[in-house]
Amino acid sequence: MQAQDVQDDLKNVLFTKEEINAKVAELAARIDEDYEGKDVLLVGVLKGAIMVMADLSRALKGHYTMDWMAVSSYGSGTKSSGVVRILKDLDTDLTGRNVLIVEDIIDSGLTLAWLQQNLKSRGAESVEICTLLRKPKVVKTDVQVKYVGWDIEPEFVVGYGLDFAEKYRNLDCVATLHPHVYS
Ligand code: IMP
Ligand code: MG
Repeated sequence: MQAQDVQDDLKNVLFTKEEINAKVAELAARIDEDYEGKDVLLVGVLKGAIMVMADLSRALKGHYTMDWMAVSSYGSGTKSSGVVRILKDLDTDLTGRNVLIVEDIIDSGLTLAWLQQNLKSRGAESVEICTLLRKPKVVKTDVQVKYVGWDIEPEFVVGYGLDFAEKYRNLDCVATLHPHVYS
């Protein structure tokens, strides 16, 4: 039996692989410039940020180290609970480090506001945020995001690390899902 084509579930492709590549390169150039001569730790937020981290880190030209955290703010649905739990913590001591949190998407901003505060409290020199996508209309906190790929409408998107019930992360584009997927 042949595997079902994941493309059949998509309604609208928002950003293609090529558009994402160009945007990630643009963000990387800004980051390299801003952090020139500084010691930076990239913190990827699992699991959604894997693709952004993989591509962004390879587009960067300076010296960077990487670590990962897993936090949960969502169940398998599409609504933010506002409750953040650390599922996997960093292995790195943050004292005096310049931290750049790498995220896939900021929806309510609750997860990031909490995470930024949490990492600051560990003695980091600075804690900035880089996200590929942001939904400005639904941001409930005044979290400062230094690097944003695109602002998008408040609709649910998948692909390039973003999931719906753990699926669609492997898409190379960012897309909305066909309504039949939700029913
Ligand atoms: P926030 O706390 O509401 O900002 O939620 C952030 C997290 O929710 C992101 O890191 C994603 O894992 C998830 N999320 C928010 N919006 C979407 C979406 O449109 N598609 C897939 N995951 C999303
Ligand atoms: Mg995430």
